[in-house]
Amino acid sequence: MKEYHHRLPHNIQFLKTRTAYVIILLLTYAFGYFSAYHYRAPSQQTPLTPPLRAVKCAIDSFRVTTRCGDVVPAELIRKTVIDRIFNGTSPYIDFPPNHAGKFLREKRIKGWGSNGAVFDNLIRRVKPKTIVEIGSFLGASAIHMANLTRRLGLTETQILCVDDFRGWPGFRDRFKDVALVNGDVLLLYQFMQNVVSSGFAGTILPVPFSTGSGLEKLCEWGVKADLVEIDAGHDFNSAWADINRAVRILRPGGVLFGHDYFTAADNRGVRRAVNLFAEINRLKVKTDGQHWVLDSVNVN
Ligand SMILES: *[C@@H]1O[C@H](CO)[C@@H](O)[C@H](O)[C@H]1NC(C)=O
Ligand SMILES: *[C@@H]1O[C@H](CO)[C@@H](O)[C@H](O)[C@H]1NC(C)=O
Repeated sequence: MKEYHHRLPHNIQFLKTRTAYVIILLLTYAFGYFSAYHYRAPSQQTPLTPPLRAVKCAIDSFRVTTRCGDVVPAELIRKTVIDRIFNGTSPYIDFPPNHAGKFLREKRIKGWGSNGAVFDNLIRRVKPKTIVEIGSFLGASAIHMANLTRRLGLTETQILCVDDFRGWPGFRDRFKDVALVNGDVLLLYQFMQNVVSSGFAGTILPVPFSTGSGLEKLCEWGVKADLVEIDAGHDFNSAWADINRAVRILRPGGVLFGHDYFTAADNRGVRRAVNLFAEINRLKVKTDGQHWVLDSVNVN
């Protein structure tokens, strides 16, 4: 991991970059909100610099719902999601449907960094009852986490996978064997088939919507996770939005972590989003392999 150590950047280049996205953020999220909001700095800490304070203020104000719903006990989360999204019937019942079954492969799993030690390390430490994964694709890391919880005897753990299950435009150039039926890519069904073939239909549930609307609803329904993994869009705006929404469904003191802290794709959008979030909330970014980890998050 030679060039990969996290350093708090102090040089001018960083300031320029930071100033640039602070400005973008302000324009995108905050315009019009400042006048109504008064930020009070925590008394014992040195105040944030004015640009960071402005960003924090913008995030705090930019909320569609003011608070999440009353917390649902962990043992009722699966039922809550099935009731709310699937009208009371598990999506695995009578799966696969006739029109899709012939297009599915028994197991078609592909992930990136899905078996990293970070999963084992965090699941052992946190012993989560509820895990939310944001960005699941074919289910590789969700299945890996389910396997780990089972081996650790965490029989009640539920893993909710928030993903629109569309991949990305053109992803079938690399995944031709994921069928396309009248323009509908069968990624959700192949994900579910992978889960069923791996024997984890009782542990893993898809939440097949965009990360934005999916997380907003989980918050509204009072779902709280002990562990949230973020591995969806890797550009700054996507990562930033996912982190800020994810933190709202995290139990106080929970752990937020995600993939590709180091990747150069999208100009290290993930890293910039994680660092800005950590700086504003005075959290320390740790790394584990290719993943970033924020421990004991108490932001809400
Ligand atoms: C939900 O399921 C009930 C049966 O449990 C059925 O009567 C109702 O039509 C379903 N609603 C929708 C919107 O599918
Ligand atoms: C679960 O983990 C074990 C041990 O690493 C491995 O042999 C097995 O294939 C895994 N099962 C699944 C379904 O991934």
